[in-house]
Order: sequence, then structure tokens, then C-alpha cells
Amino acid sequence: MADDHGAAVPAGQRRSNPGSFAAMGILIRGGDLVTARGLARADLLVEGERIAAVTAPGAMVGSPGVERVIDATGRLVIPGGVDVHTHMDMPAGDGLVSADDFDTGTRAAAWGGTTTIVDFAEQNPGDRVEDKLAEWHARAAGRAHVDYGFHMIIGEVNPASLGAMAGLVAGGITSFKLFTAYPGSLYLDDGDILRVMQEAARLGAVVMMHAENGIAIDVLAEQAVVGGHTEPVNHGLVRRPELEAEATARTIELASVAGAALYVVHVSCREALEVIRSARTRGARVAAETCPQYLFLSLEEHLARPGVEGASYVCSTPLRSRAEGHQESLWRGLATDDLTVVSTDHCPFCRSEKAMGLGDFRLVPNGIGGVEHRVALLYQGVVEGRISLPRWVEMASTAPARMFGLHPRKGSLTPGADADIVVFDPTATTTITSATHHSAADHSAYEGFTLRGGVETVISRGRVLVERGTWMESDPGGIYLRRGRSVLI
Ligand code: URP
Ligand code: ZN
Ligand code: ZN
Repeated sequence: MADDHGAAVPAGQRRSNPGSFAAMGILIRGGDLVTARGLARADLLVEGERIAAVTAPGAMVGSPGVERVIDATGRLVIPGGVDVHTHMDMPAGDGLVSADDFDTGTRAAAWGGTTTIVDFAEQNPGDRVEDKLAEWHARAAGRAHVDYGFHMIIGEVNPASLGAMAGLVAGGITSFKLFTAYPGSLYLDDGDILRVMQEAARLGAVVMMHAENGIAIDVLAEQAVVGGHTEPVNHGLVRRPELEAEATARTIELASVAGAALYVVHVSCREALEVIRSARTRGARVAAETCPQYLFLSLEEHLARPGVEGASYVCSTPLRSRAEGHQESLWRGLATDDLTVVSTDHCPFCRSEKAMGLGDFRLVPNGIGGVEHRVALLYQGVVEGRISLPRWVEMASTAPARMFGLHPRKGSLTPGADADIVVFDPTATTTITSATHHSAADHSAYEGFTLRGGVETVISRGRVLVERGTWMESDPGGIYLRRGRSVLI
């Protein structure tokens, strides 16, 4: 894989002569390195933007090449998190925009140990794909604190949008999101979906699917509102698990007909997971993600709260019933790799905007936040014995990097990779609250959650952004990442 500097990134090599560095470096010493492959006590040397060496503990101490030492004794040292599903500065109609832009959203990401995001540029009906991409580049350029890439949402299928896909792939946008939800805006019918899938297959790109049967959901939603059931909980009740499973199954078959690789986004329920598992078992080219909100939050405890409290939890796919066991199924799916990635779908809106849908749940802007807390939330899976340490790193960093053409530059701790490194304190305790979080949203979906472990130091391409809980960087130094092909599906 070539990086943006045109250099080949070597995988898996260890520098044989770690004593002879000309450039000044940062030494991260004494920590336990955790990667998707395992655990080892080792030191890491950073030179410029890259990891220069992984050495035996203490081998570099006192070396003249070392300018700065970060003591990671008793800490876990992991590759920076890769969140491949965010919506920074996302227009949501009627002048609404998601609460975090590329400045606040990537700053929040960095605080939480995520050093790469992949966001969504969005073509709506009537738009030129290339114009929308240029808009999203303008939103992000010079504002992002961590590195970023883009997926492209195709909201209208015509010769121009199909024709644009090749140029996007050449420019590093190697994944396209489609919707079976939201009739009247981003919804695509099966024929249009098939056309995009055929072109994606030809180009070697991934099709990402928002899989919910939007036509049926809109009927149920209309019936609910007419029947006086307008509270936010009805958002979850009408978006039934069967309708997520149906759209998942249908689009897996369409992808198979087209010969395309399919990645199902924000899987929320046991029924959809079962469809994915059985398709993977028979060899279908499908992979999927879930998000922290489906692992930690629920319809009964959160979406069913009255008024704006419940509206704050409106997102699609919706939060599911804990009593029905969806969370447990999703955790098992992560442990068995039927679910490969955990991303956030970070898309918070402020409470006054969420309140616009009081009286009709269909008008609540969809989306909740999480980019700052994904890495630490997922660590709870380790604490609770659901997943291993390497699996934690794999689903938060390595697998998303591999899935979306960023590995080994991102998601690894090998020499030559970008120096995106997180020092994580497994003994810390973190309490999440909007009073102290770094998102611009005025509430947190995880308000009051107390987590074991916490992000302590964050390095992004060699820049120390956070050191022992202090923000160190002034200028946004994140750059656009030209992505390659997926190596996972
Ligand atoms: O509710 C959500 N997920 N909002 C963001 C857009 C999407 O469908 O991912
Ligand atoms: Zn979606
Ligand atoms: Zn999304």
C-alpha cells in the first residue's frame, strides 16, 4: 500500500539497529503493547510521523536519538482508534447541522483515543457527486485534529452518479453508502441499489448498506402517529427488528448477484445479525459493524424516557429492547467475528433540535454521539470478560483499518506505520458527562456512565495531542487519507 507521501509502508518489520537514529524521537517505554495479534512488553520509538522501531524494554533508554520519553509503565499501548462511521458537520435539512464539526468532532475523537475517522460525504437527489465531495473536503480541510477519509453516500442513481464512482475510487474514496430507509430522500429501490453494486464490484469498492425497510417503516410510523402514539419510543417500536433483518437479507442477495462486497452499517438487532452470520457461513462477501449505542443503551431505559430525554436517543437503526436480548447477541457476534467492526455513527444534535420532534417522533433529527467514548466503552467488554484485549484492539482499530483500505498505515504498531498511538490506563476510572466531554453536543448519550480504564496519552502521526490528560496541540494537523481497497471483504 502506498501512503499519501508516496512511500511504501512496510508491514511487520522490526528495526534491527535501534541505536542508530539520526532524527529526534519519542520513546514510549515500559508499556504492554496490545495489537490485534497479541500482547507483548516492548518499547516503541517514534521518529517524525512514523513508528521507527519496536524494541525490547529498555533497549533505547539513554539513546542520543531520543528527545522525549513517555513512561507507559503499567499502561496498555495500542494503535490509535479508527472510527469508520462519523457524520461531522452533517446537514440534516431545514438548516439543521449535526452538533460537531471537523474541529470539535475530531478533537473529541482524539481525547478518546481515536486518531482516524472516515466520515460520509453525501449526494442527495439533484446533487452532483463531485460537487458534494468538494464540499466535504472544504468542511474538513485545515480543521481536523486527526486524520480523516470519506465514504460517499449515493442518494440518486443516474448515469452521472454511476459515472462519478470511478473517479472517486481513484481519489481514495473506495466505499459507497446506500439506503433502503428514508423514502423521499436517500432511499434507493432494489434496481438502483443493484446498479451501484455492479459498478462497485467492477471498481473493487465496498458497498455500505443502511438496511431497514423504509417503505414498511413509514407505513407503521404513519399509523402510530395517527393513533396518537407520538412519543420518541415509537421511533424504536415501528422500526421493527424484522424490517432490519429483511433489508439486510435482501441487500446481501443483491450484492451477491452483483458480485459486490457488502458492509452492513449500524447493525442493532439479533435478527439482522443472524442473517449476516448465516450469509457469512455460506461464504457471502458480507461484513458488518455495530455501534456502542446498541451494546450499552436500550429502548426501555433510554429511548422510552419522556419528551426530549427520549428524543435524545433517537437514531436509526434504533435502540433495541434489552429484555429481548439484542445486546447479548451483539456482544457474542463481536466475540465470534460475525460482527467485525465497532464504529460510532457519531451524529449528535443539541437538545433544542431534538425537541423539534416532540409531538411527532418522525421529526426528531436522527443520530447520537459517541466518538469520544468508543475505545473506552469497548474496553468494558474486556473488563467484563466478553472479549480479549487483542480483540478489543482489532475491532476498534485494526479491523476497520483493514476493512476500509487504511492498513497497515493505520491500525498497527509496526515500524513504518503512522505513529498513531494511545497509552491507555487500565486502572483509571472515567465518568462520562457532558460537563466534561469535548463534543459540542450539550448532552451525552452515556451521561453518568462510569467506565474502568481511560485514555491517557494520544499521539497522532507523531504529534502528541493529549499527554496525561492535557491537550497539547494548538493547530489542527489532521490530513485527508486516500484509502485503498478493503482487504477484509
Ligand atoms: O441516526 C443516524 N444513524 N443518523 C445518521 C445517519 C445514518 O443513517 O447513519
Ligand atoms: Zn445509516
Ligand atoms: Zn451514519
